[in-house]
Amino acid sequence: MKKVTKAVIPAAGFGTRMLPFTKAVPKELIPLVDTPVLQYVVQEAVDSGAEDILVIISPGKEAVTRHFFPAVELEKRLSESGKDALYAQMQKINNLANIKYVYQYELNGLGDAVSLAEDFAGSDPCMVLLGDTVMDSFSSLPVAGQLVEVYEKYGSSVVALTEVAKDKVSSYGIGAGQEISPAVLKLDTLVEKPRPEDAPGNLAVAARYLFTPGIFKALKQISRGVNGEMQLTDAVVELMGSEPVFGCRIAGKRFDLGSAAGFVAANVEFALRRPELQEILGRQIIDILKEKNILKQ
Ligand code: UTP
Repeated sequence: MKKVTKAVIPAAGFGTRMLPFTKAVPKELIPLVDTPVLQYVVQEAVDSGAEDILVIISPGKEAVTRHFFPAVELEKRLSESGKDALYAQMQKINNLANIKYVYQYELNGLGDAVSLAEDFAGSDPCMVLLGDTVMDSFSSLPVAGQLVEVYEKYGSSVVALTEVAKDKVSSYGIGAGQEISPAVLKLDTLVEKPRPEDAPGNLAVAARYLFTPGIFKALKQISRGVNGEMQLTDAVVELMGSEPVFGCRIAGKRFDLGSAAGFVAANVEFALRRPELQEILGRQIIDILKEKNILKQ
């Protein structure tokens, strides 16, 4: 079985839920405290075994590429002024992985974005990590790495799954199937954004996938789905017709930075984990909650 060393990160979307911020700045560069969300995603791919990474961007989102290119003048200044820790941090970003970029000129949806990775993937398995979502693993294995583990056992495509509230299923792709082990299901159903009454359960596809090359054939066979877009979920359903696809209940938490609520919640949680911010921010939050009578004095 081939080792998984490739990852695709779709980052071309308009990000309309985060307008006006995303009018000029790619949503994948939204900060989580002081680090762009995409840097977390690239790091997760690398920690899961990726050596070659393809980032899908669209015209106007070139700032994404600049984040991973050397900033020669800045680095020179940091080094000359003895800011060694910051200098080392910048060097680390430059050398994270072999990152390539491709344009999605027409934003026809996530499925269309992934189809642009066909030449990059060739005959190899490939991780797909959404560029606006951070996955915080509960184990030493990153979430994409948990999918790699399932792939290495079964040799098939795998999608990450997390439980969501029953009244929230219409925001996600919902999967169900036969339980192989407590963490792994062989999928037999997958529905994009079902109404709660039609949903096959409450296990939602969670921003991480691992595909065999079969996904590219499946992507060619689907037509436009929900919202008139080429839906990756529809291609996964198509793939399920020709080869097994597994679902992995991941040990981790999803932070979707692509919505205002997700962005704020993730920043509060990550900031509260930083010792230097914990006390001042914690106190400020408590004061606001008391002021608004949400927390009793
Ligand atoms: P979203 O579903 O959040 O879509 O994409 P979006 O268009 O970016 O955002 P909204 O809904 O308008 O606010 C999930 C990931 O897939 C990428 C996005 O950049 C994001 O990282 N994507 C989406 C593409 O690369 N191409 C697309 O056509 C759509």
